[in-house]
Amino acid sequence: MAAKRLDAIALLKADHRKVEDLFAKFESAKGADRKAKLAQEICTELTVHTTIEEEIFYPACKGKIEEDLLAEAYVEHDGAKVLLGEIEVGNLDGEFYDAKVKVLSEQIKHHVKEEERRAEGMFAEAKAAGLPMDDLGDRMAARKKELLAEIKKSGLQAPQTRTFIGSPLKHNTGAGAKDTAIVAAMALR
Ligand SMILES: [Fe+2]
Ligand SMILES: [Fe+2]
Repeated sequence: MAAKRLDAIALLKADHRKVEDLFAKFESAKGADRKAKLAQEICTELTVHTTIEEEIFYPACKGKIEEDLLAEAYVEHDGAKVLLGEIEVGNLDGEFYDAKVKVLSEQIKHHVKEEERRAEGMFAEAKAAGLPMDDLGDRMAARKKELLAEIKKSGLQAPQTRTFIGSPLKHNTGAGAKDTAIVAAMALR
């Protein structure tokens, strides 16, 4: 069955609803297998969604909508990718696994609100600027297909950031490690 043709905003909003639904399902899920499957779906959806926005929709918005809004969206994506990467490799029995999924869902909720806000949201501004939504929708739908096929074939790759430049972080595994982390943080100042 051919997928329904959606304009850019309808396509992105449909993605948002889908991932919200997956987060809700994860929250009430029982059993490691079910949770792992849902976490995998969440990571796949968010990877594809952030990629099509960053490759197609956000560049189309550049110069047409408020600059701060766009810059913050990129940074929010990169922030979410930190947890995405954690969840992709994380072990389901880990003490913080559910918390990571929950915090990711909260970050995404905030981000989606910024995109969909009726007045002055990114989509509202893009619409007011007269972006070619049908064309952008077609391009994103095609890219989405490609990305899903790639993930199916090779699995999820480590998320790639566009604004984070790889500031060093240390994993605190104990009291000694804590000192090292503090020293590293001070050295950065
Ligand atoms: Fe989005
Ligand atoms: Fe976004």
